[in-house]
Amino acid sequence: MAVLVTGGTGFVGSRLCAELLRRTDGAVICLVRAEGEAGAGRRMREALAGVDGEAAASPRLRAVPADLLADRFGLAEDAYRRLADEAGAVYHCGASVHLAASYERVAPVNLGGTRRVVDFCATGRPKHLHHVSTLGVFLAAREAGLPRVDESTVPTLRTCGPFGYLRTKVEAERMVAESGVAASFYRPGMILADSRDGAAPANDVTTCLIAAAVVTGCYPTALGALPASTVDHTAQAIAALSLAPEATGSVFHVMRPEPLPMRELFERAVGYGFRLREVSAGQWREALHAHRDNPWARAAHALDICARILGFTPVRRPPEVRGDATALAMAAAGVRAPDTGSAYFHRLLSRLERDHGTTLAGG
Ligand SMILES: NC(=O)c1ccc[n+]([C@@H]2O[C@H](COP(=O)([O-])OP(=O)(O)OC[C@H]3O[C@@H](n4cnc5c(N)ncnc54)[C@H](OP(=O)(O)O)[C@@H]3O)[C@@H](O)[C@H]2O)c1
Repeated sequence: MAVLVTGGTGFVGSRLCAELLRRTDGAVICLVRAEGEAGAGRRMREALAGVDGEAAASPRLRAVPADLLADRFGLAEDAYRRLADEAGAVYHCGASVHLAASYERVAPVNLGGTRRVVDFCATGRPKHLHHVSTLGVFLAAREAGLPRVDESTVPTLRTCGPFGYLRTKVEAERMVAESGVAASFYRPGMILADSRDGAAPANDVTTCLIAAAVVTGCYPTALGALPASTVDHTAQAIAALSLAPEATGSVFHVMRPEPLPMRELFERAVGYGFRLREVSAGQWREALHAHRDNPWARAAHALDICARILGFTPVRRPPEVRGDATALAMAAAGVRAPDTGSAYFHRLLSRLERDHGTTLAGG
């Protein structure tokens, strides 16, 4: 059976495509923003090359030039119908992932794109939609009166807080749930660098927080702990759960068994050798402001969401997020918990230093 993937060039989607190629024997068809078919194929193979060379070269990997912002993804009607008759499942990973962006900026892709994906699923042969959301939909749940959430908790505009990106993710989930299309929901927590080589995008929030601490020489006292996992574990889990028969109609919290205390991020950086001292949240903001010529410090300063992620005030700490039912399903599907011990953080931090040495030094 062929599957269709959106967001295949992204951090999660590229690894998900590699997993799907490994675990299935049908075509993996990716909708890719590009001028023509050759350009789409090139972008897709480039995205996969650094992840899994075998997957990048697979003849079962197909790329279709398309845009989530355009009706019928910008495809001609006959091409759209052929695709809808061919694909038996859709993995919707494509999104505008910007924690600091306004609702208006990200809604066209995150809501309009999801609407188009739902319409596609309702066209042609019956399809199951595997919808990738985020555990950020619960970031403000404690304040909304829910100190503990699990797979049965329904996210609302109160549980996600005032952040545009998270609001669109709540609304997109609701749109899918109410659409009548057969769907499963995968909510990853904070997605960490690849466990194999420490690779992470430069706009990744953990990369940004650690880099900002290195640039300022200090890190804030952080009370928060967030559900988290590595990007490769996230992709493995989504692929394995989606292919398990009991996955139908389910919600999965894709995370390592225990949440990641945010102070651990900084303590790992100290253990690695960065000279950092702990300061109050207010002092950290002042330090970020003082280093505003540096892109990392500027980015961290602009991220209002940091106060919540790091849990600066007890009442605004993220809730306790449980994923016990998902952990059982992952174990049944043969997905082992990721190893995020000191060797992992060493890989992550040395990669960060290698990729961003100049800006980390304040240049
Ligand atoms: N990263 C995290 O920490 C995290 C945590 C929890 C959940 N998630 C969820 O995981 C999913 C993937 O996130 P990610 O981190 O992999 O994001 P990413 O690296 O930014 O990838 C986003 C993908 O969406 C595609 N896309 C964006 N706009 C598009 C459009 N108009 N038409 C077609 N494709 C478009 C991008 O294509 P281009 O290459 O053309 O830009 C890219 O392939 C998202 O649903 C996100 O909400 C992410």
